[in-house]
Amino acid sequence: MTNVPLAGIKACVFDAYGTLFDFAAAARGCRDALGAEADKLTGLWRDKQLQYTWLRSLAGRYVDFWQVTGDALDFALETLGIDRPGLRDRLMTLYLTLETFPEVPDVLRRLKQSGMRTAILSNGSPKMLYAIVTGNNLSALIDAVLSVDEVGVYKTDPKVYQLTVDRLGVPARSIAFQSSNAWDAYAASAFGMRVVWCNRYGQRRERLPGAPDCEVGSLAELPALVGVA
Ligand code: 2OP
Repeated sequence: MTNVPLAGIKACVFDAYGTLFDFAAAARGCRDALGAEADKLTGLWRDKQLQYTWLRSLAGRYVDFWQVTGDALDFALETLGIDRPGLRDRLMTLYLTLETFPEVPDVLRRLKQSGMRTAILSNGSPKMLYAIVTGNNLSALIDAVLSVDEVGVYKTDPKVYQLTVDRLGVPARSIAFQSSNAWDAYAASAFGMRVVWCNRYGQRRERLPGAPDCEVGSLAELPALVGVA
């Protein structure tokens, strides 16, 4: 895909888990207990966590992302037959202190210094997002931290993306939305945002409504795409 710079962008909005923050760091931090199972646990945990958000939204049975993340972890640990005392709590606690991907702080700093508005739009609960933003010293670089908890339904419901438009007071076409999750990127595009798909995981294009405007391998490519030196 040849990336064409996006004109007229007034705000850069970011998905959290997988885009700004590396959710694989939780299991990596417990490799002493998980050994070779760490990557398998990360994959199963993430897949089940997302499935539960979609299934609960479809059924109108919303609970917050902390509950969903814990339920998905319980499923994954049982599936893999892992039952180490204290391990579940260690993994959940690490989920509150996930690291950013290496390029993230510098990219956010450059965007802010140029006058660009920045925000997070995430399935994460307010408590989870507060912990991870402050833990990574990003509070001064993020103008708004938006949780789906405000609308009581998960991505890809359009009400989630509408929350960004309402809170930032900018039209969807003036927002560049960044996500590493293809399903999220396509949904934001279908909603009307401009979308930079940060395809960290080498995912294939989705057969869904919408289509990202740009595809990058790292957020380091974002400033140039939105006219920031
Ligand atoms: C988010 O942060 C789950 O990565 C997704 O909303």
